[in-house]
Order: sequence, then structure tokens, then C-alpha cells
Amino acid sequence: LPRLYHENVIDHYNNPRNVGSFDKNDPNVGTGLVGAPACGDVMKLQIKIDENTGKITDACFKTFGCGSAIASSSVATEWVKGKSMEEVLTIKNTAIAKHLALPPVKLHCSMLAEDAIKAAVKDVEAKRAKLNGSSDAAPVEKAADA
Ligand code: FES
Repeated sequence: LPRLYHENVIDHYNNPRNVGSFDKNDPNVGTGLVGAPACGDVMKLQIKIDENTGKITDACFKTFGCGSAIASSSVATEWVKGKSMEEVLTIKNTAIAKHLALPPVKLHCSMLAEDAIKAAVKDVEAKRAKLNGSSDAAPVEKAADA
């Protein structure tokens, strides 16, 4: 008989939280798109930042992958909400794997979620740095009337 998955995996697999997409061009949205070379599965995780507090107000994902990867991304979107970017960088795949009781062969699936969170934070930080960096340089020319 196949190994039974933990109820948390089944739950997140059957009722994945926060499936969807944000506009990746929104300056307050960070997009993390990562793949697992071992199996070819792909995970996209996005975070939305409150531009004043820098906290993550919302998150969503789309995962083309196994049930453990879908469950891992679902858990990740729940865990990042309401946290600062520094805080979510401390989320370890091992914590996700433990929560879902993933077997060792499925650890790389939870690794995708950790990588995707990091990539999403990096993306939105780069966007924000670009925006803020413009204050050091010459005033930004607005093309609004163009
Ligand atoms: Fe590759 Fe799960 S088998 S992400």
C-alpha cells in the first residue's frame, strides 16, 4: 500500500489556499518563480507589500507540480501573510516539511517553497530599491502627459 500522507498535505492539496496571480508589474508585488531540476516542477509564489509598512499583506501561488509542492506553496502563502520581509526570509523548508510531515524524498518539494519566498522578496526589494534610488539621481521625469 502507498504511504498515507499526513492530513495537512491532503487538506492543502484538496483545498489549496491563495491560488492565483497578482500583476507582476505592480511595484509592490514580488514574484518568485522557481523550478526543481530533479523533477521539472515549477512554482510561482507572489507577495504583495504594504508600501508604507513593508509588511506582506497578501500572497498567492500557482504551482505546476506534485501534491507536496502544491501543499508546500499553499502553506507558504499562509505563513508569509502579515509578516515583514526579514521575517519571511527565516521560513525554512524544513518547517514546512515538518508541518506537512513530508517524507525525505519529498523534501525538495518544500525547498521550492522556501526558494520561491526568497525569490519573491528579492524581486520586490529590487523594485523598491529602483524606485527609492531615483531620489538620489535627477528628478524622475513623469511621462504622464505624454
Ligand atoms: Fe518535484 Fe514534488 S516531486 S516538487
